Amino acid sequence: MATVAPNHQPLSDRDFLYTHEDFRQIAAVAHREAGITMPDSKEMLVYSRLGKRLRALGMTDFKSYCALVASEAGIEERRKMISALTTNVTRFFREDHHFRLLTAEVRPKLAERLRRGGRARIWSAGCSTGEEAYSIAFSLLTALPEAARFNLKILATDVDPEVLALAKAGRYRREAIQGLPEDMRRSFLDPEAPDGSNTVREAVRQMIDFRQLNLIRPLPMKGPFDVIFCRNVTIYFDPETQDRLWEAFANVMAPGSHLLIGHSERLSPRVAPRFATTGMTSYRLLPPGAAQPSRKG
Ligand SMILES: C[S@@+](CC[C@H](N)C(=O)[O-])C[C@H]1O[C@@H](n2cnc3c(N)ncnc32)[C@H](O)[C@@H]1O
Repeated sequence: MATVAPNHQPLSDRDFLYTHEDFRQIAAVAHREAGITMPDSKEMLVYSRLGKRLRALGMTDFKSYCALVASEAGIEERRKMISALTTNVTRFFREDHHFRLLTAEVRPKLAERLRRGGRARIWSAGCSTGEEAYSIAFSLLTALPEAARFNLKILATDVDPEVLALAKAGRYRREAIQGLPEDMRRSFLDPEAPDGSNTVREAVRQMIDFRQLNLIRPLPMKGPFDVIFCRNVTIYFDPETQDRLWEAFANVMAPGSHLLIGHSERLSPRVAPRFATTGMTSYRLLPPGAAQPSRKG
């Protein structure tokens, strides 16, 4: 069968028929399903990321693939498509200034409240394989070893059930835990398994509620959250979707609570007045009525 590359030049037999129209259809499904924006510059990226899906399905052209993901029966493949198009890159204590803020400013107040019988809620939104949520748990447990006995919940959500399953299992390769301080490894991980993997202790895993959640849909939870980590997730979203999400977060956050976002993300001008900046990509929700005048940019 003749094959055509994204630039419509025939390539080798290993390649798949792919047209600009196929790309547009995939981009439309990705936008509808996960808020992902795909400008034309992503045409090659889509081809290379989805090539392995076509191969796994025994398909030779993107037209058949588009028909599958657009069909009702294609629900499972749509999930796999979104998973292939997004990146799950993460690591323990990534962008560590947020964890310094958590430790220095947030933890003492939460610890005091918890010890007095109050509640605390922290959310890792777009948690990927779980390193962010476990870093939160490790940070809290370091000063509050009895944390699991209190009314404390760490929620960790992602749209992709495959990464969530890995997050829940909490098993990491030796290289993934290399940056963790020795005392954290000893306290929070089981001894290394013969295959070189390291599993987060069950008591720590149980502190985290891992759930599938698509952030572009209305949020099912009411909060109020004390801290929301939503880092390196909205980079895929168009500005309107980002805006809606920041607003939805603000509506489930306690006054004075913290929103921490990724290094290349920014709050939109519409929602920024509801927050005060407390550091690099760190924001605190202002109490109602204290919103700042609307900012530009
Ligand atoms: C690059 S990872 C970020 C992980 C972690 N927050 C960090 O900063 O290290 C982005 C994650 O966002 C998830 N994601 C993408 N679109 C999403 C959506 N619409 N709803 C929920 N999660 C989404 C992806 O599945 C992926 O696991």
